[in-house]
Amino acid sequence: MAIERTFSIVKPDAVSKNKIGAIYSRFEEAGLKVIAAKMLHLTQEQAEGFYAEHSERPFFGALVEFMTSGPIMVQVLEGENAVLAHRDILGATNPAEAADGTIRADFANSIDENAAHGSDSIESAAREVAYFFSPEELCPRTR
Ligand code: PPS
Repeated sequence: MAIERTFSIVKPDAVSKNKIGAIYSRFEEAGLKVIAAKMLHLTQEQAEGFYAEHSERPFFGALVEFMTSGPIMVQVLEGENAVLAHRDILGATNPAEAADGTIRADFANSIDENAAHGSDSIESAAREVAYFFSPEELCPRTR
């Protein structure tokens, strides 16, 4: 099994519902370790840059508006097959299709406000981690 890093966001809807700790518990129960974390209120420029690959999609404006609507938590998770392990516990993008017991099934309002983000590949994870964290901010676990 490969030890990987992935990037994660607790989105404004979940922060507003006071579910940061509940979602972090899901990470820990899945064996994912938080190795960096901070709270941010994204600017429009930051949100547009982060989601640039979706800029032509019809929901882009709504997505940026939502992601700038309140504070978020950004974190780097480390663990065995972290990218897929994190996507598994997130559940489907649309909470109506998310499996029971997943983060989106339990905490998301709708596809527009879906509680959390997770990188979809190792390459995306590296880019997304670097978008929000400097190398010095990462604290790999030694024990
Ligand atoms: S994914 O998770 O990247 O495979 O999903 P994808 O369908 O490609 O969606 C990309 C991001 O856009 C969000 N999204 C939406 N936002 C607002 N309205 C609608 N209808 C919508 N559909 C998708 C989706 O949550 C993805 O954001 P992240 O932050 O990756 O979850």
